[in-house]
Amino acid sequence: MEKLDQFLAFAKPYINQDMIQEVTDSMESGWLTTGPKVKKFEQQLQAYLGAPHALTVSSATAGLHLALLALGVGPGDEVITTPMTFACTLNVIELVGASVKLVDVDPRTYNMNIEALEAAITPQTKVIMPVHFAGLPVDLDPLYKLADQYGLRVIEDSAHAIGAQYKEKRIGSFGDIQVFSFHPNKNMTTGEGGCVCCRDDALAEKIMLLRFHGMDREAWDRFGKKGQQHYQIIAPGYKYNMMDIQAAMGIHQLPLLDDFIAKRTKLVARYLEAFEDVEQFLLPQSASYAHTHAWHLFAPRLKEAQNGQREQLMAALKMCNIGTGLHYQAAHIYPYYQNKYAWKPNDFSHAYAVGESILSLPLFYGLTEAVQDQVIAIIKEQVRKL
Ligand SMILES: Cc1ncc(COP(=O)(O)O)c(C=O)c1O
Repeated sequence: MEKLDQFLAFAKPYINQDMIQEVTDSMESGWLTTGPKVKKFEQQLQAYLGAPHALTVSSATAGLHLALLALGVGPGDEVITTPMTFACTLNVIELVGASVKLVDVDPRTYNMNIEALEAAITPQTKVIMPVHFAGLPVDLDPLYKLADQYGLRVIEDSAHAIGAQYKEKRIGSFGDIQVFSFHPNKNMTTGEGGCVCCRDDALAEKIMLLRFHGMDREAWDRFGKKGQQHYQIIAPGYKYNMMDIQAAMGIHQLPLLDDFIAKRTKLVARYLEAFEDVEQFLLPQSASYAHTHAWHLFAPRLKEAQNGQREQLMAALKMCNIGTGLHYQAAHIYPYYQNKYAWKPNDFSHAYAVGESILSLPLFYGLTEAVQDQVIAIIKEQVRKL
């Protein structure tokens, strides 16, 4: 059995000397938390994304939570989202006391099926929360058309989608609210971290207030040389701010993002070509509208997965030192959601089928083509043995 010499995780962040030096500089300066580097990183994000407001937060989960809070979503309200996502997309809806309404996915793209969206809208609906799965933008024109028609707000869970484009417009540069993640397995990282983009000044103001205790001044404005120590609490807020030592990484990650995505795109093209003749795989499909995929994940499906073969393949690959990921089991079958909403697996049958058959293969900037060739050969061998 062919195997890699060392274990290869499915994702690995790229860290260079500039990032290490910038973090060291923060540590030596004595200013670790939110400060000048966060400000600089936010300005860079604003410019790259073309967003009037790019507000850093401690994670995308925090950003999604703040967006819902700032929109005043709460008990009695419904938020429409997709079951093919990380659980936090649903969890934050529960955390603000609203109800989750799900729309099944398109089995080809794993994104919310926009054709089924209108039927899920009720008088209680306040927000639509689509997910740009794996970095493939959702079909936003028809989605925003419905949002306008029904007076709904839109929070795009863009955790996978920094750098993606929909019809030649960068995700974050248009629409209502976008939330990005800088978790270490994402296309760019700050260790942990996230960013909320919006165009609405009043909303941005609320998010800024809520991300730091509801305080009218952030720490840098209080303890910096020009700062004033006094502050007021305008609302009870959260502790969701990004630290300078996180932004220090981001400042040097963002200028490399397009290169990161170009490399990921190249690696994906090689996977697609190599697996074309593997009939056990259903390969990720493109969307018909113009877009640039950010390729956060390369996640094919295994056709025979009902018989536990996906788990068998993941275990076999692990024995060969190849790490895989499971993004994601459909969220509606987690015990909390099954119990609360009495959802059955096949209530969202496409998401369920995708969640039972999908696996994420190694994909990151530092993956060399030579190692990818070995990975491909091993995967083909292991798939044949199933
Ligand atoms: C679709 C989706 N939304 C939100 C998140 C949350 O991101 P974070 O880890 O930055 O909170 C993730 C993380 O994997 C995700 O995949």
